Amino acid sequence: MNVKSYQFKNAKTTPPPEPLAATDDLFAPPQFRSRVIAVSSGKGGVGKTNIAVNLGLTLAKRGIRVALLDADLGTANVDVMMGLQPEYHLQHLITGQRSLAEILVETPSGLKIIPGASGLPDLADLPDAQRDVLLRALMGLDGTVDLLLIDTGAGVGRNVVQFILSAGEMLLVTTPEPTAVTDAYALVKVLAGYHLPISIKLVVNNAQPQSEGEAVAQRLATVAEQFLGRAIEPVGVLPRDKNVPQAVRHQTPLVEFSPYSPMAVALNRLAERLWSDVEIQQVTGISQFFRKIMALRSVITG
Ligand SMILES: Nc1ncnc2c1ncn2[C@@H]1O[C@H](COP(=O)(O)OP(=O)(O)O)[C@@H](O)[C@H]1O
Ligand SMILES: [Mg+2]
Repeated sequence: MNVKSYQFKNAKTTPPPEPLAATDDLFAPPQFRSRVIAVSSGKGGVGKTNIAVNLGLTLAKRGIRVALLDADLGTANVDVMMGLQPEYHLQHLITGQRSLAEILVETPSGLKIIPGASGLPDLADLPDAQRDVLLRALMGLDGTVDLLLIDTGAGVGRNVVQFILSAGEMLLVTTPEPTAVTDAYALVKVLAGYHLPISIKLVVNNAQPQSEGEAVAQRLATVAEQFLGRAIEPVGVLPRDKNVPQAVRHQTPLVEFSPYSPMAVALNRLAERLWSDVEIQQVTGISQFFRKIMALRSVITG
């Protein structure tokens, strides 16, 4: 597959993808390497979008080239949280009305936002041509960003699962609430059923006190190891912080609204932790992400 031919501006005219041969090694080292991380959760409302936006901004401020895709196709709201009013979004991209370059919003910090559209059908339910436009456009980003963050929306629906398995790396978000933890476990269980090599990193958000978050992370990691044989790496506990809802109300990202708040400080630590091990990560690369999505589309049910 000639990766270089997939440029944003060619999205409407590029030919359909070559079918994947059974022998294709989906996990071979990719040609271009952008790390792809899906920010996901079992239960909604646990802080995914806040974490994706603020982590993206924190990394961008450190000079890392980050794009954030709002792939919560049910309730896309990255733009609302950032106080953006994008003229165009994913709907315009997949229908071929606009290119990725035209819908992409570059914020002053350097973070690139790909605005979502609420009410889009599941990736798997999109007409082939529309899904291919989206995936090819994303692939055109490969190598131009260091990290593609995907705010996937919650649950075990096939869209979420497809994004996570294809990204190869998931930042699993939960709160200490038993319902959120149970749903996080359910998501890991569904993912484990596909027997694909994904790296699962766990963040416990809205923790009060910190020790409760740490205990929850440890418990979830132990249970997943014991009953699912999956390693979960706890990478951080984020505190409950009243500045978070305030920042949301002001439609200003927390790290800008209140850069020294406990949550912003904890997000900085998380960013450091996530980026410090980049050298040893199995970086998926967006082209690889694309190939896996194509291969998985007929496999995933839900
Ligand atoms: N660390 C936190 N402290 C206090 N409130 C939080 C925290 N993280 C998230 N929230 C609140 O939780 C709600 C859901 O957050 P959001 O990021 O939209 O979750 P999701 O994307 O998982 O649905 C928001 O109202 C937000 O203000
Ligand atoms: Mg959200």
